[in-house]
Amino acid sequence: MDYPAFIKEQIEEIKRTVGTHRAINALSGGVDSSVVTVLGHRALGNQLITVFIENGLMREGEPQRVVHLFSEMGIPVRLIDAKREFLEALKGLTDPEEKRNAITRTFYATVFRRLIEETGARFLLHGTILTDIEETVAGIKRQHNILAQIGIDPEKEYGYQVIEPLRTLRKDGVREVAKVLGLPAEITERIPFPGPALATRIVGEVTEERLATIRAATAIVEEELRETKAFQYLAVLLRDRATGIVNGKREFGQIVVVRCLHSVDARTALPVELPWEKLRRICERITALPDVNRCLYDLTPKPPATIEYI
Ligand code: XMP
Repeated sequence: MDYPAFIKEQIEEIKRTVGTHRAINALSGGVDSSVVTVLGHRALGNQLITVFIENGLMREGEPQRVVHLFSEMGIPVRLIDAKREFLEALKGLTDPEEKRNAITRTFYATVFRRLIEETGARFLLHGTILTDIEETVAGIKRQHNILAQIGIDPEKEYGYQVIEPLRTLRKDGVREVAKVLGLPAEITERIPFPGPALATRIVGEVTEERLATIRAATAIVEEELRETKAFQYLAVLLRDRATGIVNGKREFGQIVVVRCLHSVDARTALPVELPWEKLRRICERITALPDVNRCLYDLTPKPPATIEYI
């Protein structure tokens, strides 16, 4: 594929579609939304408003890190605090699809709609990629960012039009475009992190307390496994509990699962054979977290498992 030509075409198409109106896009710091941000910025300059939605589901220090990185590239990003709205929408929900739907609704119907009203933007630039569309249409998973392909008309439902410059690419293609655009390795080499963020790493209800546990476990796993250069590594908080002994006392504590996978495009994946010493160290650090007394390493490939637990 001729990536420089692809970039030129997409910039032209964004310009043509948006005309003299304003557009908005949400940056998460992932490679997809980062590429869309740069394409949109090159096409529209200050007609594009880029926001980072702090949904309370992000990793340690992530919102500030992403905003800072883009401001260094000359792209201003507004940090929007929507923590309360997301936690409220997720309250009491345990079903994976209901959780995804609650996140989708809060993103598009509540937060974006309000931002669109405030900014007068007519268009939303979106980092949807081909795999998102295929998996949603096939009923494998409802990706949070799929609307038109499953019969939702964003113009009618939410009051804005959606532009999806990456809809023909898979993850590896997006990374190539990111490199051609000159994005730093911190973004082009970043491991995939799902849109619904840490909510996909919590089986059962998403609460502030459970988010704090999985956020801390995620930081440990990412720090310990970065050097593996694996496709993706993550921690998951289970709903089950198990008995353990902490400070001489029996407790019914939480269980964290660690996953580390080789993959090219996330359609299939194989577990990485981690050294015993590495596994032991991760286990020791994770079980030192409050209320966690077990850490498991998941050896299941995709298929039959998926990468995430919800
Ligand atoms: P699964 O769990 O289906 O995940 O094997 C495949 C890849 O997609 C990521 N993933 C998501 N990304 N929104 C996203 O942007 C989502 O709802 C979502 N669900 C899964 C996952 O991290 C893996 O890389």
